[in-house]
Amino acid sequence: MEPRRCGVLLLFLHILRAVTAREEKFIISKLGDNAKLSCIYPLKGKFHLNNLRVYWQVADDQEKCSVVHALISGQDNESEQCIHFKNRTQLLWDRLENGDFSLLLLNVSQSDQRTYKCIVLQKTEYTKMIHQEEVVLSLAASYSQPILSGPIRNTSSSGEEVTFSCRSSNGYPEPNVYWINKTDNRHLLPSELKITPHTDGTYSVFSTLKIKATSNMQIECSIENKILQENLSANYTQEKINSYSNRETQKDLGQKRRGAQAAGIVSIVILIAVLAVLACWLWRRRSSQLVSYKDVQPNEDKGEFNSPV
Ligand SMILES: *[C@@H]1O[C@H](CO)[C@@H](O)[C@H](O)[C@H]1NC(C)=O
Ligand SMILES: *[C@@H]1O[C@H](CO)[C@@H](O)[C@H](O)[C@H]1NC(C)=O
Ligand SMILES: *[C@@H]1O[C@H](CO)[C@@H](O)[C@H](O)[C@H]1NC(C)=O
Ligand SMILES: *[C@@H]1O[C@H](CO)[C@@H](O)[C@H](O)[C@H]1NC(C)=O
Ligand SMILES: *[C@@H]1O[C@H](CO)[C@@H](O)[C@H](O)[C@H]1NC(C)=O
Ligand SMILES: *[C@@H]1O[C@H](CO)[C@@H](O)[C@H](O)[C@H]1NC(C)=O
Ligand SMILES: *[C@@H]1O[C@H](CO)[C@@H](O)[C@H](O)[C@H]1NC(C)=O
Repeated sequence: MEPRRCGVLLLFLHILRAVTAREEKFIISKLGDNAKLSCIYPLKGKFHLNNLRVYWQVADDQEKCSVVHALISGQDNESEQCIHFKNRTQLLWDRLENGDFSLLLLNVSQSDQRTYKCIVLQKTEYTKMIHQEEVVLSLAASYSQPILSGPIRNTSSSGEEVTFSCRSSNGYPEPNVYWINKTDNRHLLPSELKITPHTDGTYSVFSTLKIKATSNMQIECSIENKILQENLSANYTQEKINSYSNRETQKDLGQKRRGAQAAGIVSIVILIAVLAVLACWLWRRRSSQLVSYKDVQPNEDKGEFNSPV
């Protein structure tokens, strides 16, 4: 009974190990960033660094040089480290004892896009492998917001050939470019697609689309970054000639209306002014008559005359 149970348990452990060994992690890093290649012992425990060997290597067996980083007897051992990784790797020293053997890879570039493997060996009575893990590192960089330029048209005539262009830059990896007719959401074939690599490893993209003009064109250019699952798009919407001229006439009407209002206000002001002058004149006339009546008698001795002006 006992040995059989033990056998089942061993078998189970074996399967578990096979599963954990085959499990791959995918890590996406941006160009120039530091990537953390994760390798964590799944069980809790304290490790004595003197009994440990941690190897980080490139998983591909075909590589001439495969050592990325080595920790032997509690010390980094650079004797076999590939030149490509010199001065670019760091273990997380404060976490090693807790079973976190993750590796920091500094300033990643395109050539770091590989599958990495960490192997942890422990020496007790004899040396055995206690953990291994694979990590796939992919690099990416977001493309810039695309700039779409199209024809500036002031006729609604159809049939002439017009050209659109779309550009974006600083992305990685190479993008997919989609031209879309927003009227029916169909894809259009570009007439030119130029993807230019730059020294910093990123790409810029320039694409043109030539189509026969229609009266109401709505075109979208979309730049897709597959790794980042990112689509950046820019729109072109043609100013509709008719609504444009409508807007013009509405503006004219508005101006006319405003003019009419102004004229109305001016004439009312003039009317009020005229009435005021009239009223004033009438009042002056009446009061001066009164004054002259009054003045005729009492002021006669002063020899003053108050004649109406
Ligand atoms: C590195 O490891 C080699 C054997 O793999 C050993 O001869 C050498 O002394 C080690 N160097 C250091 C600095 O531990
Ligand atoms: C690594 O750094 C050391 C000292 O900082 C330097 O002497 C050496 O040239 C560097 N190696 C590489 C490959 O950059
Ligand atoms: C990062 O790597 C690139 C080449 O891949 C190099 O030109 C650049 O100087 C490096 N930057 C740093 C901070 O080491
Ligand atoms: C608009 O049309 C006139 C002639 O109808 C043409 O001379 C002019 O260049 C056009 N403007 C633009 C921006 O296409
Ligand atoms: C865009 O779709 C509309 C509606 O189907 C169509 O009339 C028009 O011709 C299309 N434009 C282009 C450039 O294919
Ligand atoms: C990006 O847009 C294109 C075209 O519309 C579509 O085929 C693709 O699935 C989109 N990708 C993502 C990640 O949304
Ligand atoms: C382009 O138009 C679509 C809808 O037609 C909209 O969802 C999207 O935000 C627009 N993009 C830009 C950059 O204006």
